[in-house]
Parts: sequence; structure tokens; C-alpha cells
Amino acid sequence: MGKFALITGAAKRIGAAISHYLAAEGWSVLIHYNSSDKEALALAAQLKTAYPSQEFPTIQCNLANTDEVLKMFKKSVLQGVEITALINNASIFTPGSIADITPDFLAQQMGVNFEAPLFLMQAFKNHTEHGSIINMLDTNVVKNMETHAAYLLAKKNLEALTQMAALAWAPHIRINGVAPGPVLPPPGQDQKHLEKVIDNTPLKRQVDTKDIAQTVSFLLNNPSITGQIIFCDSGIHLK
Ligand SMILES: NC(=O)c1ccc[n+]([C@@H]2O[C@H](COP(=O)([O-])OP(=O)(O)OC[C@H]3O[C@@H](n4cnc5c(N)ncnc54)[C@H](OP(=O)(O)O)[C@@H]3O)[C@@H](O)[C@H]2O)c1
Repeated sequence: MGKFALITGAAKRIGAAISHYLAAEGWSVLIHYNSSDKEALALAAQLKTAYPSQEFPTIQCNLANTDEVLKMFKKSVLQGVEITALINNASIFTPGSIADITPDFLAQQMGVNFEAPLFLMQAFKNHTEHGSIINMLDTNVVKNMETHAAYLLAKKNLEALTQMAALAWAPHIRINGVAPGPVLPPPGQDQKHLEKVIDNTPLKRQVDTKDIAQTVSFLLNNPSITGQIIFCDSGIHLK
């Protein structure tokens, strides 16, 4: 069986970088997107031209809706896609303190950042005998950044789930996490937004999207690692 990765939020930014990196290593990629249809189709076409013997189908789904998440997985299986790796990369990063959290806001942040990864993991486990899951976390999972409280609570839950499931689902499924530091400014914000954060990192380095993709690849390729969280963050988790 070939290597086939489902990457959520794959159309742009870090997701697209992971898609390029894995494609160059011989993976076929199921490119998930929500609103970035043009970018997803362009990425699929670009990868198919570069790697004609691999497959790069696209699939649309709003991950805020659990029913849609499960339908998406079923649809991809029905299309004959044999997924062997799941990269939970899609995310929504909305500011708001603990005091700002409303039920709807919490449902949205938890839905995309925690529940969708959880139900995709479950569907993946039921679908495959052997496989690997990578959850994209955040260096702040070891901190208490209250500016994005609901987002961070969801990522902290996803970190805990990564380790709980790694133990529960061994030896068949390996589950690891990547915790990025400053890679790209949040969508819609400029580079200035990141400069202070980068300057505060021990390595004084903006994390390259390729560094993240390489870490994902390392975890996918190392059969002895499960339940590991790698901080690819220029050392900022140390402070
Ligand atoms: N950027 C950083 O410096 C940084 C730092 C720490 C952690 N991370 C983590 O690394 C991962 C990738 O980061 P990123 O900055 O590249 O992410 P991003 O651009 O903020 O989001 C990635 C994709 O998530 C998808 N998405 C958002 N809401 C969705 C929904 N309701 N349903 C389905 N898809 C949805 C979007 O897809 P569409 O465009 O198709 O709508 C978006 O392109 C994330 O998990 C993030 O938390 C990033």
C-alpha cells in the first residue's frame, strides 16, 4: 500500500509546506480545505505536475461541525483513498480572554482545534490497521497565554489527547505532536506582529515552515517514537 496522508488545512501556509515536503518524500496527499478552494486546487495541480505518479485529491469540510467531519472521512474512504497518516493541522486562532468566552465561541474554538482532530483520530483508527497521526499543537501549551484562552485550552486538550491515545492505541497507531513557535503572523496580520516574539526566542529565529514540515516527516518516519511532543519553536518554551 502506498503512503497517503490526510492533511487538514493544507491549502496554505504551514499546511501547504507540509504537503510539499511529504510529496517530495513520495507521499500522496489528501488536501483538506475549508474556504481556500482556489489555493487547494492550485496546490493539487502543482504537486501532480511535480509528482505525477502520486495522488493529490482535495476535499472540502467545515471542521467546526462534527457531523461534517465524519462525513468527510467516510467520503474519502469511499473514494478509495487509503489514508495511512493523519496530520491535524487546521486551526482557528481567535483572541479572547477567559472572561470573554461565550458558549458559542467556546464551541467554535474547541470544535476546530480539539473536537475535529479527536473525531478524525477516531475515524482514522477505525479505518487503518497501522498508521501515524501528527497533531499540530503550539509552544504555548506549556504556558498560560490568556490572550487566546479558548484556543489555548483546546490545544492543551489536544496535547493531552495525543499522549493518552498514543498509549491506548499502541502498538498499531503512533501519535505525536509538533508544537510550533513563531512561524507566520496570524492570518491578516503583518510581520511586525511577530518581530517581538521572534526577538524573545533564545535562538532569535523565525521558525521556517520547512522546519515544521521536516519535524512532521521525522515523526512519521521514526517507528520507535510515540506520544512525543517536539517543540519546534526556537527554544521559546524554555522561558
Ligand atoms: N503560524 C504560527 O506561527 C503557528 C504558531 C503556533 C502553532 N501553530 C499551529 O500550526 C498549525 C498551522 O498553522 P497556520 O498558521 O498555518 O494555520 P492557519 O493558517 O491559521 O490555519 C490553517 C487552516 O485551517 C483551516 N481552518 C480554519 N478554520 C477551519 C474550519 N472551521 N474548518 C476547516 N478548516 C479550517 C483554514 O483553511 P481554509 O483556508 O481552507 O479556510 C486555514 O487555512 C495550526 O494548528 C496552528 O495552531 C502555528
